[in-house]
Amino acid sequence: MFTNSHRTVVVVGAQWGDEGKGKLVDVLAERADWVVRYQGGANAGHTVDLGDVGFVLHQIPSGILHKGVRCAIGNGVVLDPETLFTEIDGLVADGVDVEGRLYVSERAHLVLSYHKLIDAESSHSLSLGTTGRGIGPAYEDKIARRGVRVLDLRDPERLRDLVTRNTDHANAYLASIGTSKRADAVATLEQLEKLAPRLLPLADDVGLMIHRAIKSGAAVLLEGAQGSLLDVDHGTYPFVTSSSTTSGGAATGTGIAPTTIDAVLGVVKAYTTRVGTGPLPTEMDDPMAERIRSLGNEFGATTGRPRRCGWFDAIVVRYASRINGLTDVAVTKLDVLDTLDRIAVCTGYEYAGDVHTEFPSDISMLDRVVPRYEWMEGWQQPTGDVRRLEDLPAAARAYVDRLQELIETRITYVSVGTRRDQIIGLDD
Ligand code: IMP
Ligand code: MG
Repeated sequence: MFTNSHRTVVVVGAQWGDEGKGKLVDVLAERADWVVRYQGGANAGHTVDLGDVGFVLHQIPSGILHKGVRCAIGNGVVLDPETLFTEIDGLVADGVDVEGRLYVSERAHLVLSYHKLIDAESSHSLSLGTTGRGIGPAYEDKIARRGVRVLDLRDPERLRDLVTRNTDHANAYLASIGTSKRADAVATLEQLEKLAPRLLPLADDVGLMIHRAIKSGAAVLLEGAQGSLLDVDHGTYPFVTSSSTTSGGAATGTGIAPTTIDAVLGVVKAYTTRVGTGPLPTEMDDPMAERIRSLGNEFGATTGRPRRCGWFDAIVVRYASRINGLTDVAVTKLDVLDTLDRIAVCTGYEYAGDVHTEFPSDISMLDRVVPRYEWMEGWQQPTGDVRRLEDLPAAARAYVDRLQELIETRITYVSVGTRRDQIIGLDD
């Protein structure tokens, strides 16, 4: 992805999250100088398998596993300072050197204990199937212009005012939904006082740092979390997360100009999964869903919830390609399909006598559509050791070629296993 003319690259999920962005970012970070997360928070779970050791990263960019790569958390992220340090300590315990190469935007908003309390207690969060990490409530405070930012930790008096005001607000809400649980401003402030001396040295003007890096010719990777169909504007609203997961969010969420982005890599699974509630037109029935879930180990990296499984939906991915401006696609987990005798791809939605090939804005339609499937032959051979496209079994190659045609975007990488080295296309 990085060439002389491609220096700033965005990696986005082009389905409902968990496409394998962590692995792609890890692999591409080998050639990057900077990796920057631009949205989301500790709701993300990016799994990276190094063979002898595996990591699940929630807030720290997946580039951290490469020595010498600088990592930053952009202003578009909502940062949970407590779990950030748990994550840093875990990495250090596993021998990853974090010191001096992790930066946090001073403009990033903080996820505080009352955000998590609201997310856990509210029936609205429950009905959306959120991760319970306080993401929605933290973004609500941000948009309502009462949020607490990293830079507020520098001013104890302002911090006290903000936290007190927000705690009152949170408690009024908690009372209104009939729970007896309450947020505690004093406890929150005590916790922040403890964390501030560790967090503030990491705080910087990340937008300016990345701007300078780009000007000096650095290779910069902007790492998205969740997926395009969970984008607050373009996803299956209201069954979405609260941030701009698509490539536009990479500019606003880091503070660089959209015109500096040279390429956008969309990551998709060779099938589809979703955690939480909301439409999934190609959802499989058991026992097929069960089979894919166990073959692909489809359980949430953050919450452990079983993921819902479905066939590849070309309508969804072509839509994601359009709204992200994808220049390239990485197909992951092709190997999960190795044992299937036939594989379906959705090419349209049948509804009220018509076939729809564009993803609808009104998701109520999706509950009633019947996916139109094209059935393809399975290859029934292991692909985990394949490293070149031409060495794939013919049926697997035909499957990848057909996906590429349907999504109208070049497939540049195919991942055939969880390990770093199990990828096709890296040297092209
Ligand atoms: P929230 O982001 O915790 O508010 O959850 C909103 C929706 O996004 C729920 O359906 C979650 O399951 C989903 N979601 C949030 N983060 C991820 C992720 O990293 N992968 C997949 N789904 C996610
Ligand atoms: Mg994940």
